[in-house]
Amino acid sequence: MEKTIAVLPGDGIGPEVTDAAVKVLQSIAMRYGHTFHLKHAAIGGCAVDAYDNPLPEETVAACEASDAILLGAVGGTKWDQHPAHLRPEKGLLNIRKRFGLFANIRPVKAVPALLGSSPLKEEVAKEVDMVIVRELTGGLYFAEPKHRTEKAGVDTLVYTRPEIERIVDKAFEVARGRRGKLTSVDKANVLETSKLWREVVEERKAFYPDVEVEHMLVDSAAMKLITDPRAFDVVVTENMFGDILSDEASVITGSLGMLPSASIRADGFGLYEPVHGSAPDIAGQNKANPSAAILSAAMMLRHSFGLHSEASAIEEAVMGVLEDGYCTGDLYTAGKRTVSTEAFVTKVIEELEREFVSEHIMYS
Ligand code: NAD
Ligand code: IPM
Ligand code: MN
Repeated sequence: MEKTIAVLPGDGIGPEVTDAAVKVLQSIAMRYGHTFHLKHAAIGGCAVDAYDNPLPEETVAACEASDAILLGAVGGTKWDQHPAHLRPEKGLLNIRKRFGLFANIRPVKAVPALLGSSPLKEEVAKEVDMVIVRELTGGLYFAEPKHRTEKAGVDTLVYTRPEIERIVDKAFEVARGRRGKLTSVDKANVLETSKLWREVVEERKAFYPDVEVEHMLVDSAAMKLITDPRAFDVVVTENMFGDILSDEASVITGSLGMLPSASIRADGFGLYEPVHGSAPDIAGQNKANPSAAILSAAMMLRHSFGLHSEASAIEEAVMGVLEDGYCTGDLYTAGKRTVSTEAFVTKVIEELEREFVSEHIMYS
């Protein structure tokens, strides 16, 4: 298969974890006979520095000419005082909006080898397997009016019926392909947008009789997520609630550095990005956990290119290295061996090689 991938490393640990994912993709291409053309482009703070624009037109053009986008992370203290339109985060928000990437799929799966790395008790975190479906191009992040004066800051929360319908339908489809349970998270006891959200979920559920639906208020969901996380299969929620709940859910896996995501639209085109940010506190130190970025690349192979075996091979290789007791510092716990970002990737590639040889080369 021949595909073009726009690679947008961004800021902080973004370039370190993106390099890791690219190495893994190169290894997959070589072993499985694919060609991936990589187009590197700037986004975020580095694009503000070079182009005075967190999402330069050159980057948009590179993405338009690609089959998928792989992104690292954006942001950093250097740009924190910039006006809104020159903030790194604006580049990320703009690319999501520009490409219509309304569905952010964030799987959260407990890794047996990492149960000791989670602050949750092993019996609470074990066997958790859920997907958070976060609305990504609406709500408080985008609606107008949005402005700042000396005396007031204004953000507006708006959701239209079609915006809710398409994300809810996506979540129903995800649930149908899994254990068939959908938890819709809202704040319908207070917010008008949430009342509409709940109404739409109730209407759409008639089309998915095989899916069991429950509604949960976001404050209660935040509590249940860490007291009884196995109760969740698929969670669907609006932009800001999804942002917060997914970082919270990452503690089940042991680290934010474990969570990948896919930001997609209806035709399958997608941007693949770790859930975490640019981690300025560890940037440039070869310490970042590259798992989220590598697993995001696996999601890209599966969702955008239909390369299921290759995606599974990557996921198994990452799990294999963790099972062997290697991890980056964020996951450190007694009995583990802490390795650098680069050493971790080398191990993942060695593991891929081992898997490939055992599947494809038979000795007689
Ligand atoms: P963060 O996700 O960057 O970091 C939170 C904590 O998790 C830090 O202690 C960090 O060291 C740790 N961490 C995150 N990813 C890690 C990894 N892969 N390996 C090991 N440890 C990891 O969140 P923050 O510190 O609140 O934000 C920093 C900057 O990142 C801000 O400018 C923010 O706007 C931006 N941000 C960007 C994205 C994105 O690009 N998608 C997401 C979140 C935050
Ligand atoms: C994320 C990030 C972004 C968001 C920021 C950096 C704009 O936190 O991808 O989760 O809030 O969506
Ligand atoms: Mn976030």
